[in-house]
Amino acid sequence: MGTRDAKEARLLGAGAEIELTIDGQNVKATEGRSLYDVLSGIGKIIPAMCYHYTFTPFGSCGMCLVSVEGKKAPVRSCTASAQAGMVVTTETPDLKDAQKKALIKHLSTHPLDCPVCDADGHCELQDFTFQFGIGEVPNVKQKGIPEDTRSKVLDFNMNRCIVCGECINICKEVQLVDALTFMKKDGFTIVTAKEDKPLYCEFCGDCLAVCPVGAITNKFSKYLYKPWQMKKTQTTCPYCGDGCQINVETKDNRIVRVTSKLSWKAKWGDRADTAKGHGGICGRGRFGFQMVNSPDRLKLPLVRKEGKQVETPWLDAQDVVAERLTKIKMDHGGSSIAGLISARCTNEDIYLFQKMMRIGLGTNRIDSTARYGHMNVVMALRKAFGTDRIRMMNNSEQVTKADAIFVIGSDITETHPVFNLRVKEALRKYKAKVIVADPMTTPMAKLATHHLAIKVGSEARLVQGLVKLIVDRGLCDATVLQKYPGAVETLKRATAAFTIESVAEETGIPVERLAEVAEILAHAERGVILFEDGITKRRDGYRNVLTLVDLALVSGLFEKDGSGLNALCEENNEIGVVDMGGSFEFLPGGIAYDRAGAHEKFAKQWREELPAGAGTDLAGILEGARSGEIKALYIVGENPIGTLPASMGAAEALEKVELLIVQDPFLTETGEKAHVVLPATTYAEKEGTFTSMEGKVQAVRMALEPIGESKPDWEIFSELAWRMGFPLEYGSAKEIHREIAKTIPGYFTTKPEPLPVDLAGYLNNGFTQETPARYEGSSSNGSPDYPFTLILGQILYHSGKYSTRAEGLMKIYDRARLQISPADAEALRAAENDTVIVRSPSGRVEVEIEIQPRLPAGLVFFPEHFNTPPVKDLITHEIDPVTRVIYHKRGPVAIERAAAPAGAANPGGAP
Ligand code: SF4
Ligand code: SF4
Ligand code: SF4
Ligand code: FES
Repeated sequence: MGTRDAKEARLLGAGAEIELTIDGQNVKATEGRSLYDVLSGIGKIIPAMCYHYTFTPFGSCGMCLVSVEGKKAPVRSCTASAQAGMVVTTETPDLKDAQKKALIKHLSTHPLDCPVCDADGHCELQDFTFQFGIGEVPNVKQKGIPEDTRSKVLDFNMNRCIVCGECINICKEVQLVDALTFMKKDGFTIVTAKEDKPLYCEFCGDCLAVCPVGAITNKFSKYLYKPWQMKKTQTTCPYCGDGCQINVETKDNRIVRVTSKLSWKAKWGDRADTAKGHGGICGRGRFGFQMVNSPDRLKLPLVRKEGKQVETPWLDAQDVVAERLTKIKMDHGGSSIAGLISARCTNEDIYLFQKMMRIGLGTNRIDSTARYGHMNVVMALRKAFGTDRIRMMNNSEQVTKADAIFVIGSDITETHPVFNLRVKEALRKYKAKVIVADPMTTPMAKLATHHLAIKVGSEARLVQGLVKLIVDRGLCDATVLQKYPGAVETLKRATAAFTIESVAEETGIPVERLAEVAEILAHAERGVILFEDGITKRRDGYRNVLTLVDLALVSGLFEKDGSGLNALCEENNEIGVVDMGGSFEFLPGGIAYDRAGAHEKFAKQWREELPAGAGTDLAGILEGARSGEIKALYIVGENPIGTLPASMGAAEALEKVELLIVQDPFLTETGEKAHVVLPATTYAEKEGTFTSMEGKVQAVRMALEPIGESKPDWEIFSELAWRMGFPLEYGSAKEIHREIAKTIPGYFTTKPEPLPVDLAGYLNNGFTQETPARYEGSSSNGSPDYPFTLILGQILYHSGKYSTRAEGLMKIYDRARLQISPADAEALRAAENDTVIVRSPSGRVEVEIEIQPRLPAGLVFFPEHFNTPPVKDLITHEIDPVTRVIYHKRGPVAIERAAAPAGAANPGGAP
């Protein structure tokens, strides 16, 4: 990378301040900076077709010409660098002629098929042709290259390609994927996937976004629109906690495509500082939109009559719900009713839901999907930081500019594809040390400066070992030693119970390597820890988050600017669901439900008493349903039967309740059991807000009219509340929004303040007594009869189960297979797509395999988005004793070939 680095540094302008003259104007610039950047910085926009500020200038299109005194020929301003005393002219007849010639050269091989081209109306070549008034092009030569339609979502029409290289460069420099290349074909240069294979990549679509012509097209929107026919609505992606801004483009109440700020039209940014993000989105955001117009959407309420779910008008369905809920409340009290809501709903939906459940139905038996793992983060960090609302400590810009990044328990490229680019930029541009601790060779592990390929399930021991090394070897931050000597002493004592050699043995990482990583973290000026499922959704998740707090503490990450501890959120509104009071422990604003004075405060504001009693979590709700204590259950956007393993008995529990109401855009496994199903809109048909994992509260805007007779969640609650006589009528999501703003002052911000962290209370109250127990080894759930570890997790092309309704994403990843390492496949003598039998103490399942080199022997992975075959049921759940989080994503299994060939080694045996 030496040459490229040097070029990059030069173009970013690492030099001294200089002066040059541009069109007679005296201009200050940094020596060596791209002349194009200097020009655009003073508002001079020169025609350019291969330039984009997010990657190193390529200099291929020949359009960005300027005259530089002393140079005979025009100069390409994008690749030229600013020099002291330079005299530059940007507009002369000669330059215009040269630009026109360059344009004609491009047009001479470019088909004029604008009427059927997707880029018609937003094509840079078309715009310049018009601007330069080119009517005729001599010596036209058509390329006649057949369209390359081999990729699952993108088509490549190389007749239209102007060989600008933008697609290749963004893929290589921003995505660090490097999937595309130039190739010669029939005398022309074309773009193709590496080795001329069908393109299979991260499918972010950045190449499509920056292509200045219609050479790369989206298979799913081709021939469906002209840009001027579409309505563009800027909103927030509904998939993950990154909270990317997307443009939902609709025609005739259908989503035709999803785009983002990134395009060839947004090419003039500050290349010296792209740390604020490049404006792109990932494959889920771009190709996951068809779920909105899916034919499977519920159009009318369903009410169970004589055992069958029958489409029923809204008024009748609402009558059924209101009458039956009212009766159950009168007969058995509010606490016989429980509710569950998804972290995919808007803040406004969640706020109103908890308010309706609490002051309308009189129950605090409410919970949310945060109980699948995020609650470990919330409870642990609230305890440690002494703050009510938890979010990431660092914003994405700080992560980009960190000099050390420790990623643990996160396949960040797959789970947070856009946030992952911040880490990639930290690596590429800021030369950060990136340490990935993961048994899998994840995409980020491949790029990282340090991959700690730890043994499966040894994350906690690794963190404990790093804490030990820092406190034992005198690496602990000086400020920390001075401020918290007692805490450091406690950690020294707690870690004295084991040797670093035992950590090396348990994790599989040599002591020297562990020590190197400990030094990097302890000496980082801006150190950042990123973690997610591998910590939060595994046994002991709560205590392991607290151990990460220890690591951040001794590394001084709470003392240094731009440093900190950050949990990544799987669902788009995991932060919001807790902030809005969507769980039994918390009222809006993260106020503990049992905090002194909290009931009085909210009762005064809501003009109703809050129910007494501690409330009930998800596992408790299912238990209550099973025992008959809970008579009615209202489930919004969540699907416990489809999510939880059979060991939770969700299906049996839900069958027991007198009234099961499920509100969802689709008929889920849980919906099929319901007495009433209420059709809700998706994010694209309603207004509201989502809170990103960074704490940015961003608008969700209505891009199309509700499909069928579906309604926004908040509207369903409001209408229902009116029928039941509760004072909860709202005319719009905005009204709820205003109430939230009063309830949680300062909540609605896209620029959150740094997360307040005050460790004093935590370290002075019980830390000394509680900590040693956290450092005792945690028991393994391995067994010789079940030698493999099965992990359920997310993959790049899906998010939850929602995305499996999107045709585009299903094209990319259409069915679930068990991912297995090459070594294990070989031991089983199983080939790609062969069927294996997976057994656990809970049962057996037959499933096809996908051989995955990223997996180590002994570890198998199943994408949690799919319920067929029911691999999830092989795992026996556990419940965290403190946070009541349900652990159900990792368990021991045995594997054998479904029909083993003669002589196959080791059926069901050790890996
Ligand atoms: S879709 Fe993304 S990863 Fe794939 S080739 Fe284009 S830029 Fe590269
Ligand atoms: S496909 Fe588009 S972005 Fe790529 S080189 Fe051709 S014109 Fe440029
Ligand atoms: S990274 Fe997350 S929020 Fe951004 S586009 Fe992808 S799924 Fe949506
Ligand atoms: S923009 Fe400079 S050569 Fe294309």
